Amino acid sequence: MKKRLAIMISGRGSNMLAIAKNVQAGILQNIAEIAVVFSNKKNAPGLQKAKEMGLETAVIPSYKKQRSQFDKEVAELLQQYKPNLVVLAGYMRVLSPEFVEKFKIVNIHPADTKQHRGLGGYKWAWQNKLPQTKITVHYVDAGLDTGKIIAQKTVNLQGATSLADVEKRGLAVEHEFYSEIIKQICEHEDKDG
Ligand code: GAR
Repeated sequence: MKKRLAIMISGRGSNMLAIAKNVQAGILQNIAEIAVVFSNKKNAPGLQKAKEMGLETAVIPSYKKQRSQFDKEVAELLQQYKPNLVVLAGYMRVLSPEFVEKFKIVNIHPADTKQHRGLGGYKWAWQNKLPQTKITVHYVDAGLDTGKIIAQKTVNLQGATSLADVEKRGLAVEHEFYSEIIKQICEHEDKDG
């Protein structure tokens, strides 16, 4: 049985797209399906891209909503899609304890979460002239990028000429790495029954 993914986005959605392409005709093809792409922003560019790919989409705007009430509404919505795995892909909100208890959730972060958490991971690497950064995929708890690390992949930043260059190198790695780790998690779940 294919594992059902619920992907949560807030913006551009390039990681969501990379996963969707791998589900359509790549390493996730016989392993996973996308049950829904959810956004807390109705104008998130990634939502439009998801629709163009024919994916199911859903929106609940988070603007001015209290966290626990908003997350309760989102959890009720997502539960209807019966996801095996909730995949955060540029979902820029901390989740409530009640939400994280209900699902298995993973996130991708553009830096080593032991060194940098929150927004601006590539800017941090660029401003500190780091020779490398570590893309991190981790389980999600109720903290800001504090969940258990699943896997990390190093990105060589030597000779980077701009923040855009750093970001380009990092995203190229993110787009492959996230699907690889999602595949491993889905396959592992199968072993566990
Ligand atoms: C990605 O670089 C992701 O690692 C980062 O946001 C970007 C989303 O891009 N996430 C975080 O910083 C989480 N703390 P995308 O919308 O094009 O996938």
